[in-house]
Amino acid sequence: MPYENLDDEAVYQRTRAGQLPREAPDRLRLAAVGGRTLDDRGGDSGASNDDPSAPGIVKPLPPELFVEHETNAEMRWDAMGDIGFHVPNDRFFVRNHTSTPIIDAATWRLRLHGTGLSAPRSFGYQELLAMPSVTRDVAIECAGNGRSLFTTQQHQEVTGTPWRLGGIGVARWRGVPLATVLERSGITTDAVDVMARGLDPAYVADGVDYGRVRRPIPVTKALRDVILAYEMNGEPLPPDHGHPVRLIVPGWIGLASVKWVGDIEVSASPLSSPWNTEFYRMFGDAYPPQGGAPLTTQGLRSAFELPWNATLVAGRPYLLRGRSWSGNGRIADVEVSLDDGATWQRAPLRGPHVASTWTRWQVTWKPAQTGRHFLLARATDETGAVQPSHTTHNDFGYLFDAVVRHPVTVVSG
Ligand code: MTE
Repeated sequence: MPYENLDDEAVYQRTRAGQLPREAPDRLRLAAVGGRTLDDRGGDSGASNDDPSAPGIVKPLPPELFVEHETNAEMRWDAMGDIGFHVPNDRFFVRNHTSTPIIDAATWRLRLHGTGLSAPRSFGYQELLAMPSVTRDVAIECAGNGRSLFTTQQHQEVTGTPWRLGGIGVARWRGVPLATVLERSGITTDAVDVMARGLDPAYVADGVDYGRVRRPIPVTKALRDVILAYEMNGEPLPPDHGHPVRLIVPGWIGLASVKWVGDIEVSASPLSSPWNTEFYRMFGDAYPPQGGAPLTTQGLRSAFELPWNATLVAGRPYLLRGRSWSGNGRIADVEVSLDDGATWQRAPLRGPHVASTWTRWQVTWKPAQTGRHFLLARATDETGAVQPSHTTHNDFGYLFDAVVRHPVTVVSG
């Protein structure tokens, strides 16, 4: 089958990079678009959001659980200490380009169309619920997670939502394998790309209407492990997380997991959208002028379940907990440094240890010296990749994977 050529993500990246527009995009304009989420209150949510100051998120966002960034809500890592492996739905981060639409599952239909199908058709919500289902733990993480660290840790300028490390969550998703729906729609052997489109309002930024959020993935990935999910942690998908149905694309940047799916195009020729041509590619001095390949898998990261700038008492024993994750497989090892990188110790891993999620770890620490300290965690994944001490800069601040220097202050007891 021709699409087997794209089974490997690296091959997909190289192939699509060669097929995308060769014109260098206008970096200034892109920077303006990326920067809108940072500075313009509600600006990007524009189009159909009547209240320009409303974040467009339905669920409550208590400040002890979330940090709001315009249309988005970041999870607080210090609120993770008292929860288990999965992030409960009311605490899960939200990344919305515009605003959460309220969709009636009873009248909703999923339309399959395109040149890569011999029997295009549509499916209703109840029809999907009646099909054989799969249940899987998967992390969703924004490609821009950690973006603010380019600035605070590497003193570099980037544009976009200034996430710290809370643009990630792991949930238990239940739904229908996308492969089942594609097969029932007669996917042909010459199909190459599959593009789901959301029903949220069109994304309008800087006077440009980019249309509704959509992003192609190769057929091989679509058939391998992608889920059309209708349940999150045992409940129907909440409105903010894609009700009634969203894609779950394990290991890939969060953008690929399109929420509120209304239609899916399956094509016998490569598909593109602004989300794999203008956004979610690497631009910057270290990358080709026309931009790097469209982003696919997430990187490798670690976070402490501690407040940023936590205050700890000298001489008191602490159990420091954290989590590490990789888009490329399971976490193999985590080392922690409690003295600003001078010495490292292995952190025992605990709990589930599965790919496309995160792995929890813990170390004990009895701080001796008062003053400001940095706690560091460095993960290695099963491919042998290790978190670097520095991430190569890119203009949009994607995929920050460097070891994070987590500041704490130790005071006398
Ligand atoms: N799907 C639609 N339709 N609209 C969006 O704005 N945001 C994407 C993805 N799917 C988005 C979307 C991005 S960038 C991310 S990181 C994830 O959804 C976030 O999923 P969550 O809000 O459920 O955490």
